[in-house]
Amino acid sequence: MKPRLLRLQKSSKESACGIGVELGTAGPGFTSTSPEEDIFMVCMSSGEPAYICLPIVSLSPHTDILNFCANNYLGLSSHPQVVEAGIEALKKYGAGLSSVRFICDIHKDLEQKLSQIYEREDCILYASCFDANAGPFEVLLGPDDAVLSDELNHASIIDGIRLCRAKRFRYKYMDLNDLETQLKESQSSRLRLVVTDGVFSMDGDMAPLKRICDLAEEYGAMVFIDECHATGFMGPRGTDELLGVMDRVHIVKSTLGKALGGAAGGYTVGPKPLVDLLRQRSHPYLFSNSLPPPVVGCATWAVELLASNEIAQFRNKMTEAGFTISGSDHPICPVMLGDARLASLMADDMLKLGVYVIGFSYPVISAAHTDQDIDRAVDVFIQTGRKHGVLS
Ligand SMILES: Cc1ncc(COP(=O)(O)O)c(C=O)c1O
Repeated sequence: MKPRLLRLQKSSKESACGIGVELGTAGPGFTSTSPEEDIFMVCMSSGEPAYICLPIVSLSPHTDILNFCANNYLGLSSHPQVVEAGIEALKKYGAGLSSVRFICDIHKDLEQKLSQIYEREDCILYASCFDANAGPFEVLLGPDDAVLSDELNHASIIDGIRLCRAKRFRYKYMDLNDLETQLKESQSSRLRLVVTDGVFSMDGDMAPLKRICDLAEEYGAMVFIDECHATGFMGPRGTDELLGVMDRVHIVKSTLGKALGGAAGGYTVGPKPLVDLLRQRSHPYLFSNSLPPPVVGCATWAVELLASNEIAQFRNKMTEAGFTISGSDHPICPVMLGDARLASLMADDMLKLGVYVIGFSYPVISAAHTDQDIDRAVDVFIQTGRKHGVLS
């Protein structure tokens, strides 16, 4: 069933977006419209947008804007059944459990579902994937161990690695030669963990997981992937499925805050002894409030959904129109303009025409976008591309 598109009215925008910015204040990290218009977006953190989970936001009661920036990959954040599941859980269990994981039944059910989907032994839920990434390194790795991490891995991985005492090796972006060099250099370590985003959040590039697994096996290392930008629609379970290495990746991390309902929450799936250890020792799990029931309710329903073909439609139409779209098959569609100022000018013009993209980030296609939405976005790209000389 296609998700219902929720059109926000002025009075409801702040609660629905979860972010309030005073009218007219566009300070560092914030974007707002002029005081005459409604606020529509957005908080930035460490170079990445904090995403609105709705496909359409309203700038004023009369103007609908198509949102091509959110990571609402399956369009589930406003899906009626996801919303209903959240309401039911809210009524049944209340707003929250006011505790860490002492009352666990609804969490356990979701954990079990996720481990089944990933065909892994066990799963542990966190309040966010940022927390899930903060948890494992210090638990798993000591001073005799080594972690080999792609230089463009997500900030949460970088911070998580900072917390552990293992030796750190940073290899160049998706560079297998460099990874091999560092695997050789770290040969004397007791345990080695290769860490990569499955899909990199800024460019939509897919990590060469098959070759990474080959190298890891050759040098006796384990593999950890962050699947926040892949879960549910690449493979469709993830890049490891898409690239045929599900049984060769040891630890998978992902979020419930993007494709799987778009609210919040993160998790680790992997071998049971690892998950047991995390339950005993992982600080973000032990010392932070558990995921609120409505969020668990929404995510529990959302985990069963399938991928869509909107991505190919957007990529094909944009390429046919003459744009260069980097990467392949991913909802993050880098429209390569090669000029930051131009990108920003085009984004401003596109907003006036009712399509919201950000100049320094890439459009993200969602299953909540209808064929007409995609056509409209491509038309607006073409119109503004011509105006700015990107297209002839
Ligand atoms: C690759 C990657 N890992 C982890 C996270 C953190 O996820 P969460 O929002 O659930 O904390 C993000 C979110 O932007 C991400 O893009």
